[in-house]
Amino acid sequence: MTIIVTGGAGFIGSNFIFHLHSAHPEDRIVCIDKLTYAGNLSTLQSVIGAPNFRFCKLDICDRAGVEALFEQERPDIVVNFAAESHVDRSIEDPGVFLRTNIMGVSVLLDACRKYGVSRFHQVSTDEVYGDLPLDRPDLFFTEQTPIHASSPYSASKASADLLVLAYCRTYGLPATISRCSNNYGPYHFPEKLIPLMIVNCLHDRPLPVYGEGLNVRDWLYVEDHCRAIDLIIRRGRVGEVYNVGGHNEMRNIDIVKLICQKLGKPESLITHVADRKGHDLRYAIDPEKIHKELGWLPETKFEDGIQRTIDWYLANRPWWEEIISGEYQNYYETMYGNRERLE
Ligand code: NAD
Ligand code: DAU
Repeated sequence: MTIIVTGGAGFIGSNFIFHLHSAHPEDRIVCIDKLTYAGNLSTLQSVIGAPNFRFCKLDICDRAGVEALFEQERPDIVVNFAAESHVDRSIEDPGVFLRTNIMGVSVLLDACRKYGVSRFHQVSTDEVYGDLPLDRPDLFFTEQTPIHASSPYSASKASADLLVLAYCRTYGLPATISRCSNNYGPYHFPEKLIPLMIVNCLHDRPLPVYGEGLNVRDWLYVEDHCRAIDLIIRRGRVGEVYNVGGHNEMRNIDIVKLICQKLGKPESLITHVADRKGHDLRYAIDPEKIHKELGWLPETKFEDGIQRTIDWYLANRPWWEEIISGEYQNYYETMYGNRERLE
């Protein structure tokens, strides 16, 4: 089988390629990635050169380029990870989110129709459901929860989900969607909470917690997400949405304190700063459907996953040092330089 993986030089896409490469060595993997600031070809060095792997630098919005690649490769399955993925960036500049996350998906859907793939899978997010109140721990997102996006990022992902479902119904495109909670693990770009706090701790820099840090996220180790997607593309029902999450809700402030403790750094590094605009309060996934239909369960406990993640960042300094030495410095200054301190 030939599987096109878009966005495979990013965090989850690269982990998915490693998963496929070891779990299904019989499959051919073709990675499409534009290599934006978030894509890093060095991440894929362990598979580049493998006979069943091809990398193609390509923008998913490039209709002619995408069609030419489909013509050559005649993929059986397409898994779309390619996206602008950072909420804070979407608040500063929504345009590129609409382009890649909506128009790019429409280009992929058209190519999938034209070349008759047996499955298109859209990697979506729990953020399309909006948020849940902090004082209702009994509430969870199910696949029936209405779409209620808060940020330009989540609105763009929600739009893509609607397009995918429309292509499925109107044209009979065999598509599936997964909506996962927050991932963590190796190769996570250091603009996101967990790797940012690890990297800042290692440099004894302030740890910028938005507001009081009471917002809750439902953290899942990236390999568990990759296994879920692999199950869905092979055994999931066409036209269905599957929520993916591990019932591992944590407050941001508790995550940051845990990272300080594990790295032997003082909590005095924690700096409360102005809150994110429109900040979602709590995400919490009900993963019952994927568990019942496909037998999926998370395998990595948070205590183990966070230790593994910290160890990975300690052992792979060149990977993230190169990132933070470049354009990232301008990004950091823009996002955090003038951000109001709350204490
Ligand atoms: P990421 O930002 O680390 O990686 C995105 C990748 O897409 C990068 O390699 C980038 O170069 C590539 N890309 C961006 N625009 C492109 C374009 N126009 N054409 C081709 N490639 C392009 O993101 P991630 O955290 O790995 O997220 C992957 C997917 O999973 C996204 O669709 C995201 O919405 C979804 N998701 C992420 C999480 C999470 O916690 N990180 C949770 C649920 C869902
Ligand atoms: O829920 C899935 C989503 O998880 C994915 O769809 C997104 O692509 C992914 O980026 C992630 O979105 P979040 O906004 O939840 O992740 P982020 O790491 O940016 O922030 C996690 C929480 O930490 C959030 O409540 C904001 C807070 N935060 C974040 C940063 C970067 C801080 O307090 N300080 C920070 O510096």
